[in-house]
Amino acid sequence: MSAAHTAATVTRVTDSPALDLLLPVDRARRFEPRDDEAELLALFDDAPARHVRANMVSTVDGGGTGPDDVSGSINGPADNRIFQVLRALADVVVVGAGTARDEGYTPLHVPASLAAERRRRGLRDPLELAVVSASGAVPAALLDADRPPFVLTTPGCPDLAELRRRVGGDHVIATGSGRDVDLGAALSALAARGLHRVLAEGGPGLLAQLVAADLIDELCLTWSPLLVGGPAPRVLRTDDWLDPPRRLVARHLLHADGTLLGRWQVARA
Ligand SMILES: NC(=O)c1ccc[n+]([C@@H]2O[C@H](COP(=O)([O-])OP(=O)(O)OC[C@H]3O[C@@H](n4cnc5c(N)ncnc54)[C@H](OP(=O)(O)O)[C@@H]3O)[C@@H](O)[C@H]2O)c1
Repeated sequence: MSAAHTAATVTRVTDSPALDLLLPVDRARRFEPRDDEAELLALFDDAPARHVRANMVSTVDGGGTGPDDVSGSINGPADNRIFQVLRALADVVVVGAGTARDEGYTPLHVPASLAAERRRRGLRDPLELAVVSASGAVPAALLDADRPPFVLTTPGCPDLAELRRRVGGDHVIATGSGRDVDLGAALSALAARGLHRVLAEGGPGLLAQLVAADLIDELCLTWSPLLVGGPAPRVLRTDDWLDPPRRLVARHLLHADGTLLGRWQVARA
């Protein structure tokens, strides 16, 4: 998922569509929109205290963007409803710098109507953002914001000193070597700062690496009722096959207006 997946589609919760829980069959029910989204929050709020959850959107033919090369053109109000709920359950959103640049990420805010439910669960305010970048090319709108993001980079990043100056030394986490952040070490460094509930919003390049490193616990994936063809990336962008393929255990499936919203747990070997 993405900021366009976010910002462009933010609506009042009560304007959102009702979501029908189709699976598991024995729990089938309807989630009417509610300002505090207490019921939907409860549906997703059974992950372990420390977890990494990914949230992505795809067209039915597997496109991770529309023809405009962003995901805002392939999401919709049902997806946005879940998107806000998942953010409200996270300590930190992690994105690749490509997504931060392409989707125009700005500092994150949980809608006020969800804040009480968030606080009740002991989640930190504000919701933090962490951007993964080897180059250090993180948008100025983030680096110069009142509330800058964490930057997850490497010790060899050419802009390390400048990044530390702009976002503060504690917000720059430099791990790994060459152009590869050690993603496991970076997530541990976030956890050491109290950021245990991680929401990975892509993009496809970062998500593929997180999956390959067995760092993703759960995937939430929205299928929008669209076909786009073209060169759109799939939600995992990688040249190599995942070896072995990772198995998923279906947790639930929601539906609204032709949009299907699934949740899978990654099975551990
Ligand atoms: N369908 C969805 O749900 C969804 C979600 C998000 C994004 N998107 C779309 O996906 C596209 C962007 O995805 P993407 O795959 O091109 O980019 P991405 O994964 O968001 O970002 C790639 C960039 O992240 C940094 N990076 C990733 N892994 C790294 C590592 N291990 N070490 C160091 N740096 C690392 C690098 O940044 P530097 O170049 O700065 O070194 C790299 O160029 C956009 O079109 C966006 O709209 C779709």
